[in-house]
Amino acid sequence: MALIGSVPRRCVNLPPGSLMTLIGSIFGKKVQEGPAIEDFYRKFAAWLGASHVFGAASGRSAFQLALESLGLEEGAEIIFPVFTFPVIPLVAKLLGFQPVFCDVDPKTYNSGPEHIEKKITDKTGAVLATHLFGQPCPIQQIADLARQRNIRLLEDCAHACGVRVDGKQVGTFGDIGVFSFAEGKNMPCFGGGAIATSNDEIAQRAAAILSETSKPSTDVVAKKAFSVWAKWLLTRPFVFGITAYPALRVKLLLGQPLMDSAVGDELLEDFAKSNPQISPFSNLQAATGLLQLNHIDGFNEGARRNAGILTGMLKDVPGIQAPDTVEGDHIYVYYPLTLDPAKRDDLRNYLLKNGFDSKTTDMSDCSALKPFQETLSTGNDQSLPKEASILEICVYPVIPQAEMRRLGNTIRTWAGLPTI
Ligand SMILES: Cc1ncc(COP(=O)(O)O)c(C=O)c1O
Repeated sequence: MALIGSVPRRCVNLPPGSLMTLIGSIFGKKVQEGPAIEDFYRKFAAWLGASHVFGAASGRSAFQLALESLGLEEGAEIIFPVFTFPVIPLVAKLLGFQPVFCDVDPKTYNSGPEHIEKKITDKTGAVLATHLFGQPCPIQQIADLARQRNIRLLEDCAHACGVRVDGKQVGTFGDIGVFSFAEGKNMPCFGGGAIATSNDEIAQRAAAILSETSKPSTDVVAKKAFSVWAKWLLTRPFVFGITAYPALRVKLLLGQPLMDSAVGDELLEDFAKSNPQISPFSNLQAATGLLQLNHIDGFNEGARRNAGILTGMLKDVPGIQAPDTVEGDHIYVYYPLTLDPAKRDDLRNYLLKNGFDSKTTDMSDCSALKPFQETLSTGNDQSLPKEASILEICVYPVIPQAEMRRLGNTIRTWAGLPTI
């Protein structure tokens, strides 16, 4: 049994030079405003293949900006995958739209045109296609459907920054792509988010909306940045092994919760109380984004390589569904294992005792959540994935391949299979 852990549940991915950028922005008084913002917009748009990019303080704030920039009619229905990060449909509800949920494929966790089409009515204004966990959904077919039915298409790329489908970046198939640069995603910029669009009218509206927002204070941005940097440090496998890991082992021994964040209704209550508003992107976040653009493709490739090791080792494990690529490429921002909910915590605890932390998911079956009870349309499939059956593993390239193999063998041993 390992006494020192080697794999945290999430590894914050900051690029080389980010601490210097942070300190330089503070001393140069360029935390909030500065030239990096326009530069990042231009370079991120060019990398994506979109005409315009606008930043926001978070992915959820970027989603709010996207919805407000679309110019939908008040009360319009917006179709979401039923299994997703529930704050996103709540943003739509708080803005006065009507969230409608469609099924997802239990293997990929994504919705396809066959799920979305059933929910289109004459009140539908838009559909949000989500690329969950880093796996692209059948976006080309969804884009064709949206065009035929004359509804707007948004893409939630919070887990999918840098995913390409037939060589085209996700986030550029519909009217607006929404990105998150939060610490738990693949391209953290000390927090932040962005929208991308090639529609000039939408871009004009977004620019007008952002011009009315007030900048967050330097203190707030800098404090957040230092806390993300501290999490970067704590999630280096060696540092994790001698700090958070022993704390988790003690918690496990005492039968206490394993430092999980609020999810489901609790998360939604906290979010609704926070009086959500569109807040702008900062110069510090943009400067960090410019550094990230030099590394993100290589980073995604490394995650894909580590995921491949694990998937190869788990193919014959009965009762565990490992993710597999169905559409385009998959970048495994999170690597979800799906298993019997009654066994999930047993596997989690076993992994922890062997040095591997893992995470319960922040995604939810939205049909079970309070704010959506009266807005639900019926007919969702009961065999949909449930959060209780998911365990997320970190496969980021900071974790050596040998550790990935040890992880694969630990799961095999737990399942009673020989190691390979
Ligand atoms: C699928 C999905 N969309 C959007 C978001 C919102 O991103 P942020 O946390 O930056 O607000 C998240 C956050 O986890 C997410 O998982």
